[in-house]
Amino acid sequence: MKKLLLLIGLTSTKFLSAQNTIILNADKGKDIINKNIYGHFAEHLGHCIYGGFYVGDTNKTIPHKDGVRLDVIDALKKLKVPVLRWPGGCFADTYHWKDGVGPKKQRPSMLNVWWGNVKEDNSFGTNEFLNMCELLGAEPYLSGNVGSGTPQELSDWVKYTTHPNGSSPMTDFRQANGRPSPWYVKYWGLGNEAWGCGGNMKVEYYANVYRQYATFMTNWNNSDRIYRIASGASDADYHWTEILMKELPAGMYDALGLHHYSVINWSKKGSATNFSEEEYFTTMKRALQMEELVTKHSEIMDKYDPQKKKALAVDEWGGWYDVEPGTNGAFLFQQNTMRDAMLAGATLNIFNNHCDRVKMANLAQTINVLQAVILTKEEKIVLTPTYHVMEMYNVHQDATMLPVEVSSNKYILGKDTLNAISASASKDKNGVTHISLVNIDSKNPQTISINISGAEYKTISGRILKSDRLQNYNSFEKPNTIAPVTFTDAKLNANRLEVKLPPFSVVVLELK
Ligand code: AHR
Repeated sequence: MKKLLLLIGLTSTKFLSAQNTIILNADKGKDIINKNIYGHFAEHLGHCIYGGFYVGDTNKTIPHKDGVRLDVIDALKKLKVPVLRWPGGCFADTYHWKDGVGPKKQRPSMLNVWWGNVKEDNSFGTNEFLNMCELLGAEPYLSGNVGSGTPQELSDWVKYTTHPNGSSPMTDFRQANGRPSPWYVKYWGLGNEAWGCGGNMKVEYYANVYRQYATFMTNWNNSDRIYRIASGASDADYHWTEILMKELPAGMYDALGLHHYSVINWSKKGSATNFSEEEYFTTMKRALQMEELVTKHSEIMDKYDPQKKKALAVDEWGGWYDVEPGTNGAFLFQQNTMRDAMLAGATLNIFNNHCDRVKMANLAQTINVLQAVILTKEEKIVLTPTYHVMEMYNVHQDATMLPVEVSSNKYILGKDTLNAISASASKDKNGVTHISLVNIDSKNPQTISINISGAEYKTISGRILKSDRLQNYNSFEKPNTIAPVTFTDAKLNANRLEVKLPPFSVVVLELK
């Protein structure tokens, strides 16, 4: 009997591991993975801007350029941040940009009502942000105030930032504030979460408001340079997407937003570091829901825009847990573990595979807030596991997506199951192919058999992000606990690739 059970056990393990197969269609690429899928988001919230990006232009202890931390710029340049959304979030619909320009001493202060009622002194404003984007080599994405602003105010912001010198009082104002030429801002959000903190509007009403605001946001020449993004749905609010697609004139918008956070339970989010297997499983379940959300919102968009001229911009996504003990509850500061690396890797695979419709995504938020890629404490800086995933995956930016057909083993918890592995692939401008693989299974390694169709590769190399415990993280005391290392568990044999992924790991392979 014992022998029989052992035999059944062995057979089923063999059977299970034989299930992980991927077909890589190396000759079927047609869609480009827009680099903006690797975008970020920075809000005036907690220590994202103040203490994170910006330490003030009189700071004597932390190296900076005009108040912007140089260590942060250096780290973000390695990520190749393509686009950065600012100034919110909920903050955006309370923000009046004219309070944040001109001599700093004359800028009025305000209360940041969404995020702890702390004083916002407006020392980091439009000029500081746009100059910082230039330093970073990233495109700015300005989130306009539609909830409590006016069409005039937003129209003026477009002129201040993008119109040619001498074309309006706003462009004179820009020059008077020390900026000799426009920054040419392409990406504009018309409100944030209009269904919630951005005005609690019904979508039918917001569609009208949107049309009004969009009317006065003029391009600076005849070419269509302004890219307007409507405040999109929350999670599975498909009605929101349907009405916007129906009511917004095609010439007035370029993309619809979508926000989805991986939250266990909004009233009990759980610790960012001290979590159970059940909590991990639920976080991953919420993260993988992105597949369904993107698919269904895209299906609605397909009805009105079959040629996929309009984009889905997932302009807020990431994990959301309880704040770290002892920190301000409104500052949303959380640590970042291997759980977050799994979340990031699996989500980016989804975005890559849906790049025909998803053209932008903005991880929330860059520094010290939610699923941050960087944490700072005075002069110290930590790169999180999520940072490393974003860095490993940046090879996909602007590459041609290669379709993959994935058949996965199950990651089982009690009666619930999730696919253990996920993948995406692309071919870059130099003809190099990259495959990113994630095994979310917390206990079992996964052997994957990859059949390559339509290409012959001679060499393979790769990197892996893994750790001993899912709960591990990089701290200010031990900043290098988790970092990518060379991966050697991949064997290439003609058109077959055999890869063994340890439990909860992310691998990016390079094939030439
Ligand atoms: O990212 C934190 C907040 O989450 C943003 O301000 C808001 O848009 C969302 O609800």
